[in-house]
Amino acid sequence: MLVTVRPTPILGRMAEPLVLGIETSCDETGVALVRGHDLLVDAVASSVDEHARFGGIIPEIASRAHLEAMVPTIERALATADVSLGEVDAIAVTAGPGLVGPLTVGASAAKALAIALDKPLYGVNHVIGHAVVDELVDGPFPERVMALVVSGGHSSLLMIDDTVNVTELGSTLDDAAGEAFDKVGRLLGLPYPGGPHIDRLAREGNPAAIRFPRGLTAPKDQAKHATDFSFSGLKTAVARWVEARQDAGEEIPLADVSASFAEAVADVLTAKTIAAAKAHGVQTLVVGGGFSANSQLRDMAARRCEEAGIELRIPPIRYCTDNGAMIAALGSAVVRRDLPPSSLDIPVDSSMPLTTVLV
Ligand code: KG4
Ligand code: ZN
Repeated sequence: MLVTVRPTPILGRMAEPLVLGIETSCDETGVALVRGHDLLVDAVASSVDEHARFGGIIPEIASRAHLEAMVPTIERALATADVSLGEVDAIAVTAGPGLVGPLTVGASAAKALAIALDKPLYGVNHVIGHAVVDELVDGPFPERVMALVVSGGHSSLLMIDDTVNVTELGSTLDDAAGEAFDKVGRLLGLPYPGGPHIDRLAREGNPAAIRFPRGLTAPKDQAKHATDFSFSGLKTAVARWVEARQDAGEEIPLADVSASFAEAVADVLTAKTIAAAKAHGVQTLVVGGGFSANSQLRDMAARRCEEAGIELRIPPIRYCTDNGAMIAALGSAVVRRDLPPSSLDIPVDSSMPLTTVLV
């Protein structure tokens, strides 16, 4: 198991509550400490390598890994920040969405800490955390931002008011963007997870080599699904294209297929998001989630936001993948707004609605 700890040199204002955040929705055990908008430490233990040979996350393996990593990761985070448990003012934890077993390990740890320390518990939404983590990097959100959260599990377009009020504008109807990359990676024979491998290959290929379909962009779909995404038709189109070449005994031009596929995904994500931002008169776009590491998406979003006069905020990649900082950041935001703490018997919710920021 790989454990990394990232101390940060920033020390927070002492007046603000110190929030401990715990994230366990998938295969990363994340523990972070945030005071106000300042990140004191972000410690992550990942079980990703244990899943690679299965080609996907095995929830039971992830749960066991969280159980083993939880106490050492909390201890490392506290030691690195030179903070004692007694100094923690509030505990924030991912209550959903995610895998039930992994979520339960994190929620149990958070509840135990809240009881032992007699401090409030805040069960918060993982997907919203992917957007709000940007406050630690780029400062407080303006009154209204649009957020595109893209990862292996989610592709969601959100309107966020005052950081904690969320409206869901759209989402994927089938595969998430990262999931589509991982599936195409598998059919191209790349290791799991395929996303970063396709990204790397795509940088050497021609994005205009093959014109793959752009899901839900036809006029009839735009009427009903202007802010929704669909990537399964694209994934099937790539599979058909590859199969046809294989049947003809031709070599597959991996770089061109990757570049053309990545271009189609980035095109749809950015075109629909920027159109929605313009339609709602929103000046700031936040992009988060593991898939926002994707260079084709980053490049196209930067270019198109500049053309549209929209401020683009994408946190550094280490805050885009699952981590504790995103949960501590969202916890800090709800504490600052005096929202009521969660009950100690909150359940985890694998399909927590995105409009539920705090349970
Ligand atoms: O947020 P995350 O760490 O976990 C989930 O909540 O899903 O996102 C992981 C996903 C995987 O599907 C992975 O293949 C994809 O993000 N990913 C990428 C890149 N880096 C990670 N996809 C494309 N290009 C990348 N550079
Ligand atoms: Zn995530």
